[in-house]
Amino acid sequence: MTAPKIDTENSARSEDRLIVALDVDTAEKARSLVADLNGVVTTFKIGLQLFSAAGPKFVEELAADGKRIFLDLKFHDIPNTVARAGVEAARLGVWMFNVHAAGGSEMMKTTAAAVGEFCSMTNSTRPHIIAVTVLTSSDSNVLGETGIEADVETQVRRLAKLTAESGLDGVVASAREIGIVRSSVQNEGFLIVTPGIRPENATNDDQKRVTTPGTAISNGADHIVVGRPVTGAPDPREAAEKILNEIGRAA
Ligand code: C5P
Repeated sequence: MTAPKIDTENSARSEDRLIVALDVDTAEKARSLVADLNGVVTTFKIGLQLFSAAGPKFVEELAADGKRIFLDLKFHDIPNTVARAGVEAARLGVWMFNVHAAGGSEMMKTTAAAVGEFCSMTNSTRPHIIAVTVLTSSDSNVLGETGIEADVETQVRRLAKLTAESGLDGVVASAREIGIVRSSVQNEGFLIVTPGIRPENATNDDQKRVTTPGTAISNGADHIVVGRPVTGAPDPREAAEKILNEIGRAA
């Protein structure tokens, strides 16, 4: 069997580095945002809320319309179940999806293999598969509660390495973790996707540790995830354009 096609990143293009989080509760609201951002934003994140509300058909609709979709469902289950879910994500035509690295190397390797095989057989481009290391909502108390004695930094390091060794393409990492990940994983092209972004002058909403788009990019993020500063702006298109300019200046 031939190897699956893998999308080679064109990180030089600012518009491919911004991922707008469609954190809304209906397909209608999401469609309207996507239409407002048409021609400016190429990549959208669909997470648990919108997926639970609008389902896989909506993911397929946007992907078929040429949008790049990061399906942020953070799969974490037995290897076979995650691998089968990953194949279904690939069938929908997503550009990227994620799993929890805490599911272990067998789960990650089985998923990468099954998705690769499916994409080879269907002659489709394999989605990027990335992993969450430690949720930014977890601190050492939360880790301790679940029996993990390591501090957050040690655990991020360990799981980033495990992700790379398992053949996945990258991790989700907060801006403060970018350096930790880059020093733990030397694989060229290992992707870092960074949420918790707030442009200068924006409100922080409920994000505690925030970084500007420019700082995240100059610190080494490949992609930044931005939700409310774009989707909640009076003019989402203008807000996205400003962020793209900032990415361009920092790159
Ligand atoms: O609106 P805001 O820019 O805060 O949205 C950020 C998006 O990134 C949300 O979809 C959120 O679930 C996600 N996210 C995050 N922090 C993480 C991981 C994901 O804010 N550590």
